[in-house]
Parts: sequence; structure tokens; C-alpha cells
Amino acid sequence: MAEAKPSLPADLRCVLIDEESIRERVLALAAEIDEAYKDITEPLILVGVLKGSFIFLADLSRRLTIPHIVDFIAISSYGNKGDKRGEVRLLMDTRENLAGHHVLIVEDILDSGSTLSYLTKAFKARGTKSVETAVFLDKPARHVVPVDIQFRGFEIEDVWVVGYGLDYKERYRTLPFIAEMIPEN
Ligand code: IMP
Ligand code: MG
Repeated sequence: MAEAKPSLPADLRCVLIDEESIRERVLALAAEIDEAYKDITEPLILVGVLKGSFIFLADLSRRLTIPHIVDFIAISSYGNKGDKRGEVRLLMDTRENLAGHHVLIVEDILDSGSTLSYLTKAFKARGTKSVETAVFLDKPARHVVPVDIQFRGFEIEDVWVVGYGLDYKERYRTLPFIAEMIPEN
């Protein structure tokens, strides 16, 4: 087990991904996205899934050199609460009309896959030119619904992580690194 740093709160076990590694990976992802969309003739629409993606989206979008528009969507997912597994509901739609545009969904973490599967289908049904996905973290052990991910930051084990936009009960979103939580009993 990694040794906890003295500066970490007591319920965080260790830093999984430090600031420098995040910075380097986001820069590389932006270069991949620039390359993939270099021939499109109108701005790419980045759609961040609130709230968890807001920091990743902010960093990624500032590293892109291709023309792009930033937008957001909010959904509620019951996937982690047990009763209605995998159910996803749209709470706030994009400001942009996505029809006729290349869309890149930007998400904090791929867990069961319910969120991204739902959004990909919903956006494709709107007459978009393409719908692809960039996720900062991926937990392959947790996948239930198959999702095709084009741009992926890091793969992690099946542990609860916080920081860089990700929360535990709204805490720790603004930590500049990704940390592993010690589960509550
Ligand atoms: P899913 O892929 O639809 O199951 O849902 C993924 C969502 O669950 C993410 O967008 C996060 O909001 C949340 N989530 C899953 N795992 C974690 C985690 O380790 N930390 C924080 N949020 C998580
Ligand atoms: Mg999320």
C-alpha cells in the first residue's frame, strides 16, 4: 500500500495521479483530438457532463488548437444508488443545437457506462455529424454497458477517487490531483 502523505485528509488513502501526470496526459489528449478533427470545417462542440467534467473540460479545451465551442449538459444517474440501476435522466440540455455538428462528449469517469451510452444515443438521434467521447478516467472492472471511447486519460482500478472535478458527496472536487478514498463503513 502506498504511504499516505501527511498533507492528505484522513479519509484519503493516497494520491493516485499527481498534478504533473495530469498536465502531461491532458496535453497529449488535446494533441490527439486536434489531429483527429483537423479536417472538420466548422467548430467542434465539446459537451461537458456536469458537474464532474468541469475541470478536465477547462484544461482540455485550453490545450486544443482546433476551433471549438464549449457547452454543458447535466444528467442525473441512479446507477450508483442501487434502486433504479443504470437509469439516466437529462436535467439540463446544451445551449447549442447539435444537429449537423461534430460533437465530443467530455466526461470525468467511465464507470458502468450508462451515462455515456445514454448520451451517445441521444446525441446521434439529433442528426449530429459524429459523436465521440473523451473520458479522463476509466474503470474497466465496472463496465456494464459497452461504450466506445475514443480518447481516454487513465485507466484505474475499482476504487472511489476524488479530485480534478470528481467528488465524494460534493467534497474534494477542487483537489488538483486524483486521490483514492478510504471507503466508509
Ligand atoms: P456511469 O458510467 O454512468 O456509471 O457513471 C459515471 C458517473 O459516476 C461519473 O460521471 C461520476 O459522476 C460517477 N462516478 C463513478 N465513479 C466515481 C468515482 O470514483 N469518483 C467520483 N465519481 C464517480
Ligand atoms: Mg460525471
